[in-house]
Amino acid sequence: MQAIALEYLIRIPQCAFLLGMIEKTPNLHAAYALDSPEDHKRLYAEWAGDYDESFAALEDYQLHIRTARAFVTAGGQGPVLDVGAGTGLCGAVLAGLGVGPIDATDISAEMLDQAMRKDIYRDAIEADLNLGIPAPRDSYAGIVSSGTFTHGHLGPEALPALMRIARPGAQFALSINAKHYEKLGFAETLHKMAQGQILNLTLPEVRIYGDLAAGPNKDDTALIALFERA
Ligand SMILES: C[S@@+](CC[C@H](N)C(=O)[O-])C[C@H]1O[C@@H](n2cnc3c(N)ncnc32)[C@H](O)[C@@H]1O
Repeated sequence: MQAIALEYLIRIPQCAFLLGMIEKTPNLHAAYALDSPEDHKRLYAEWAGDYDESFAALEDYQLHIRTARAFVTAGGQGPVLDVGAGTGLCGAVLAGLGVGPIDATDISAEMLDQAMRKDIYRDAIEADLNLGIPAPRDSYAGIVSSGTFTHGHLGPEALPALMRIARPGAQFALSINAKHYEKLGFAETLHKMAQGQILNLTLPEVRIYGDLAAGPNKDDTALIALFERA
């Protein structure tokens, strides 16, 4: 009887979030339900230590690989900023593809701490992207982001801060959860930016997870917004 009740509650996102809090186990449901910057800092501080194992490996997470490859295929080069770098999964793939130098930015000091341990980043910038990035204008020839433009995380209002620190001609590869893209009005923002601020916009759709994924989100997709700063 208890097992049936638990199974029922897990299927309701708000209840799954509360259960996650009770169990003190950060997970995708909890992450998708985040609201304030303080919520993000709290959840990712808890998750940082085992994010790579308990989420990325277990769920066969592939989006960081697909985003990094799309960036390189589009001609992207360093210096690159990895936005919402987390534990550094996307940066690690980029470094493996010969791209550098790479800086990491994230709101979570604990996630950045894990990223810096991978020895692939030049610098770590702790910042809430909604408040801008403390880096000089025109700093980067490339901007990548995987898994951060998603439910409960960043929306299109974060894009101007990225444009400011990108050089003219800089290559962008930003993954945007496909359902989040529809709900948050990314199409309108990118359409406006394409009137002169950005060039060569394409939006290939990719699966976020691989064939080993099993959970309710296993078939979720993301659009990778590929464009250059004009
Ligand atoms: C799902 S993780 C993705 C991490 C990594 N890019 C990956 O693909 O595994 C989302 C990341 O976005 C960061 N984040 C959330 N809100 C943010 C904000 N307002 N500013 C900067 N980073 C933020 C979180 O701390 C977290 O590390």
